[in-house]
Amino acid sequence: MKKIAVFTSGGDSPGMNACIRAVVRASIHYNIGIAGILRGYKGMINNDFIPLNSKSVSYILNKGGTILGSARSNEFRTSEGRKKAHENLKKNGIEGIVAIGGDGTFTGANIFMKEYPDIAIVGTPGTIDNDLYGTDFTIGYDTAINTAMQAIDKIKDTADSHDRLFFIEVMGRDVGFIAARSGIAAGAKAILIPESKTNINELVKQLKVNASEKKMSNIIVVAEGDDAGGAFEIARKVKDHIDIFDVRVTVLGHMQRGGSPTCMDRVLASRLGVAAVEALRNGEKGIMLGQLHRKISKIPFENAIKHHKKMSAPLEQLAKILAY
Ligand code: F6P
Repeated sequence: MKKIAVFTSGGDSPGMNACIRAVVRASIHYNIGIAGILRGYKGMINNDFIPLNSKSVSYILNKGGTILGSARSNEFRTSEGRKKAHENLKKNGIEGIVAIGGDGTFTGANIFMKEYPDIAIVGTPGTIDNDLYGTDFTIGYDTAINTAMQAIDKIKDTADSHDRLFFIEVMGRDVGFIAARSGIAAGAKAILIPESKTNINELVKQLKVNASEKKMSNIIVVAEGDDAGGAFEIARKVKDHIDIFDVRVTVLGHMQRGGSPTCMDRVLASRLGVAAVEALRNGEKGIMLGQLHRKISKIPFENAIKHHKKMSAPLEQLAKILAY
């Protein structure tokens, strides 16, 4: 393989830069030409390709976000859009691609490769949600749970001072991984996740017990995709049943997506970036590189997208035991 390209797509995550750096440095190591595509599939369609060298990825290892930019492209969902993208890849002499992103990114890659098998695509899991099957952790998840934990710790300080009940919403549209780990680590009184049905009556019952023990300061962590609604909605439902608490709601939002990546994320991203280039070099394609039980895993895009990663029963159980 003479020349490859790298891009980031979908919601950004801390560690994407570390992964870009690893892809560039590995390409140089193996004597493969390397280009960057700006703003994901959008840049592929608009011919936004840039040359990359060792220096262009200096001092980015510790930076959040992505130097290549990220976007969601509706045009790439059309066959005309993908045709333009293919023409540009050919024009730029690209034979292989490392796509850093989440399920939307790999869904697009999968469709594209079926139409244009002359371009080999492999992926690395870049999303804070940790919702990709076939890898224990995704790039950015560790940083996000540490950010969320620190924010919850801070809110806990003020909650204790004022004897308040806080509902804190963390990201996780379809899954509760961020909520579960940050909630356990910050000692939440309850953790509400999409994976298990939220019972408002049960929650109210427990809060009444806490109130009877004069525990008025409580932290409830809510994953944004919880079946009973977001933090504001759940707070309102609880208030309808019990109105003795001084209630506040905080939505942590996009702060969870930024910041300098943790050591875990930097090393994971570096390892997977190099593995991705090696996979292309070995003629592999259509796979996501991940890490399972500390070893590199290779998961066909279809499986990474289709199979929903389940939260482990012990993690869910731990959250329940420790919560009340
Ligand atoms: O996929 C990552 C994620 O951060 C989700 O947890 C969240 O629901 C979504 O992206 C937010 O997306 P946007 O940046 O488009 O608001």
